[in-house]
Amino acid sequence: MIALDLARLADEVDAQLAELATFSAAPAPAVERVLYTKTDLEGRAYVRSLAERAGLKTRVDPIGNTFFRLEGADRDAPAIATGSHVDAIPNAGRFDGTVGVIGGIAALRAIREASIVPARSLEVIAFTSEEPTRFGLGCIGSRLMSGAITPDLVRALRDAEGRAFEDVRRDAGFEGALEQVRLPEGRYAAFVELHVEQGPVLEAERIPIGVVTAIAAPASYALEVRGVGGHAGAVLMPARRDAMTAAAEIVLAVEHAAKSTKSADTVGTVGVVRVHPGAINSIPSRVHLEIDLRDTDLASRRDAFAMIEDAIARVQRERGVEIVLRTINEDPPAISAPAILDTIEASSRALDLRTRRMPSRAYHDALFMARIAPTAMIFVPSVAGVSHRPDELTHPEDVARGVAVLAGTMLRLAAAEVLHG
Ligand code: GLV
Ligand code: MN
Ligand code: MN
Repeated sequence: MIALDLARLADEVDAQLAELATFSAAPAPAVERVLYTKTDLEGRAYVRSLAERAGLKTRVDPIGNTFFRLEGADRDAPAIATGSHVDAIPNAGRFDGTVGVIGGIAALRAIREASIVPARSLEVIAFTSEEPTRFGLGCIGSRLMSGAITPDLVRALRDAEGRAFEDVRRDAGFEGALEQVRLPEGRYAAFVELHVEQGPVLEAERIPIGVVTAIAAPASYALEVRGVGGHAGAVLMPARRDAMTAAAEIVLAVEHAAKSTKSADTVGTVGVVRVHPGAINSIPSRVHLEIDLRDTDLASRRDAFAMIEDAIARVQRERGVEIVLRTINEDPPAISAPAILDTIEASSRALDLRTRRMPSRAYHDALFMARIAPTAMIFVPSVAGVSHRPDELTHPEDVARGVAVLAGTMLRLAAAEVLHG
């Protein structure tokens, strides 16, 4: 057991989250740190400074995944890891991902300050590009680390400006072959990610700790709708093959499909729309859409996708447009390791904190770490369930409780503690 001053921890971590939020491409309270941009690099440097001040050793891999390590008594035994991300989508808040990185560093610092030498080493990982903003694919760092994606597929990625992943990576100062990012199964004895819930359940039920049993299966697709452009005044309506009106039908079909499966958990979103040429007096000739589709139940997600495919076929037929669909990712759900769930609950009980088992509807790096290590997650409440918005909020005392449970969980997972004099 480790005794923590929760009030002090809450103040410190809250101040660090506030400082990290100042590295942002968007004006406060919005936060934006897109992969390999100046603010992403500043955010990484800031958390690295916190980790090094806490006495942790840093390693950065070729894609920028950053590992902060506290050595245990047995340095060769598989470590216990935690971590999350500091990149932030446009118009984000300050808690998504950051709580798991800054909170992880705070947990390891508290363990070190208590002069506890864990039996195994403990690590905090700040993952590269959990958010899909720049290259359209989320969790690039953890996918590569776990072998869920090949280096060739990462090298083939291009951003919206057509820049190749490797060029952007090199310009950001990351070197070495992507092949070196992969970690073998067995490198970590366990992975536990601390994250804000991003949903309303914990706050509504006044429960401070969520114990995540599974992570919903995410999928995403890119769609190119090709119509015929022309003069917005001169081309009469019967002659049109407008790519945008066709795309609008697809957007509605995604919503309809997500609402029509047997599962209440199916969600479908079109969050990216790019219209070409994007002039008010020009009929759109090309539209790029990106669809996000998820469910905790894979069969229901597949049902929704089948409905979207039917809608695509119909819209092509009826509107004389061509639609090209590309799958970006179709991932299975992750199931948490029962022994880690029990450990999180035991650590919470030791702190007199109530818990609730629940799924994660958002995806996280834990989705991919689960492929190479027994994995689970700890959730802390999100005020009104708000996330991916500037008004995202988790109260400092709730973050501190999450950090305390994380510290206890990591120590229990590392098993026997050797106390320094
Ligand atoms: C992560 O940010 C997600 O979109 O679930
Ligand atoms: Mn996010
Ligand atoms: Mn996140």
